[in-house]
Amino acid sequence: MEITRLQEAASLLRQAKKVTVFTGAGISAESGIPTFRDDAGLWREFPPERFAHWKGLMQEAWSDPASVARFILAVLEPIAKAVPNPAHTAIAHLAEKTTVTVITQNVDNLHQEAGSQRVREVHGSLFKIVDSRGTFVRRLNKPDLLSMVAHLHELLQSKVTIFKLLRSFRSILGLSWRGISRPSIVLFHDDLAQPDWSQAMEDAQWCDLMIVVGTSAQVFPACTLPVRVKMRGVPVIEINPGSHEFDSVWLEGKAAEVLPQLLSAAYP
Ligand code: OAD
Repeated sequence: MEITRLQEAASLLRQAKKVTVFTGAGISAESGIPTFRDDAGLWREFPPERFAHWKGLMQEAWSDPASVARFILAVLEPIAKAVPNPAHTAIAHLAEKTTVTVITQNVDNLHQEAGSQRVREVHGSLFKIVDSRGTFVRRLNKPDLLSMVAHLHELLQSKVTIFKLLRSFRSILGLSWRGISRPSIVLFHDDLAQPDWSQAMEDAQWCDLMIVVGTSAQVFPACTLPVRVKMRGVPVIEINPGSHEFDSVWLEGKAAEVLPQLLSAAYP
């Protein structure tokens, strides 16, 4: 990473009073959670046309339930085992220096685990069960996820049927007078999670610096947030080892290395 760019970004951060940090899968890569579109990304093995929306998942569950079991396992297991990395921790510490809001596309709860207080989960959370109207029902915890992971491993030892598959989801899926309850994750064609999305749009109107971390910014409408910020003439810093998507100060590198460096440079 270029030292002059780090200094430029540090100076922007030092002056900022209201920082919004917009994160994607890349920030959790060093916690062992795969991204979606990189070479070892989730969508390589599980194409989004088949696995990233409810209708596709239902069709797969009927035609090839083992593939759905493998997909859910590939999503759940790394998240159930992950702990925050230095990038999540640096963002939590940043709140000691300035006002910070995190807007994340991730469902892994790692920002909250690291200590961040204001977190907008615009693609929902694997840890929140909601009913069919999106109303909060209850929280899941890591042991709940780990027990589902164990069930799925066991399931995959034998012939998977749709009935066995549904039975292994019984701790996270429910049927009651309020309809089907399920984790509040947002898939393709779903509306974004509320009130988080409305709050995130307000944050984009209100911040005086945005730091974009570990996202390919391919998914609408979340990817419009940095554009809204730029349109107000507000600076954007982008942290990504691969590429940058916006007219920003690009800090090329892994989030878990670059974010602590940025904080040290901004607040020596
Ligand atoms: P992607 O997989 O599309 O992009 C991950 C980004 O992280 C890429 O730009 C990588 O270069 C970068 N990256 C990889 N390792 C990194 C590291 N160690 N530090 C920093 N950056 C790193 O993931 P997202 O942009 O988060 O939505 O994907 C957005 C949405 O697409 C997801 O929330 C999900 C997915 O489909 C839904 O399913 C609704």
